[in-house]
Amino acid sequence: MSIFDIINHNTHMGDWLTAELDAVSMVFDQHLASEFSPVNTLCIHTGRYRGKMLRPSLVLLSGMAMDGSPIEGASDHRTIAAVTEMIHMATLVHDDVLDESPIRRSAATLNALHGNEMAVILGDYLISNAFHLCSTVGDPAINARLGEITNMLCEGEIVQLANRENLDLSEDLYFSIVTNKTASLIGGCCELGGRLSGADTEKQAALYGFGRDLGIAFQITDDLLDLTADQKTLGKTVGRDLDMGKLTLPLIRALRDGDDARGISALVQDRCHAQLQERLHEDGWFESAQHSAVERVESAKQHLDGLPDNAATTMLRLMADAVIQRRF
Ligand code: FPP
Ligand code: MG
Repeated sequence: MSIFDIINHNTHMGDWLTAELDAVSMVFDQHLASEFSPVNTLCIHTGRYRGKMLRPSLVLLSGMAMDGSPIEGASDHRTIAAVTEMIHMATLVHDDVLDESPIRRSAATLNALHGNEMAVILGDYLISNAFHLCSTVGDPAINARLGEITNMLCEGEIVQLANRENLDLSEDLYFSIVTNKTASLIGGCCELGGRLSGADTEKQAALYGFGRDLGIAFQITDDLLDLTADQKTLGKTVGRDLDMGKLTLPLIRALRDGDDARGISALVQDRCHAQLQERLHEDGWFESAQHSAVERVESAKQHLDGLPDNAATTMLRLMADAVIQRRF
């Protein structure tokens, strides 16, 4: 079941969330609107990148998880939900520059359409607006926490860049990169959603742990899809990680534990996508990585054990299951 299906099949909760996400989109668009049309043209294009709205959904559901009823006057939740989506958009725009990616969500990337200079400055505009919008909530601790998280995002990307073509990349370092570049923001969405609904520090930590583990499972799946999916379904260039020399979980394990590390190294160095795909499948390394994603989802759900049982926590659990079932 996809995240869309989960929202659409939960009649009561789904209607509430859909309406809230529309409101979040309005906050997002209004805050980015500029008097300069070239800025608006670029911002409108990022609308094409907006898909599942996973991060805003997590802010809203984590907020609702505290007492299980729809949040009254959820304006701060909506604002922080829009902020997290803006941060996410900024990272995607910059990531496509770093990865030299031509396609995302079945559309040309900003770097492909307008060049790297425009994409870099648009990413800057988005991150700057995200923190400006965040400051309207008037809680410096939230700005500080999101600042900590964007530092982690950058650290994750820098360490990943520094390890391109590193065939000895350890599993620990892979998980550190993934935690920083992807899972920290997803964890932060859950933590801050709870915080805005009055969650104490223990519940905020549980929500962070849930989102972090969900985020790790999400990125393992994203990395698997990069190796296994077809481009039309995925909506972005497949095999980009290998092209850019980024080692992900199945390859790290095949190189460390497989019986033909030299053969696999040669296939990596020669960018032999099809042969690598076949070998990783036959030797069970895709299955092994998939298993790790399932374990992370289970661990994510365990973090929710101390939270009330209600429609929102049920939906959070379903979302955790959905991130490893996605095909795009
Ligand atoms: C996608 O990874 C990239 C990220 C999750 C994080 C990108 C972070 C940065 C570029 C640094 C932070 C930037 C700002 C503006 C704070 P991927 O390439 O594996 O995923 P993909 O397949 O979707 O491209
Ligand atoms: Mg990328």
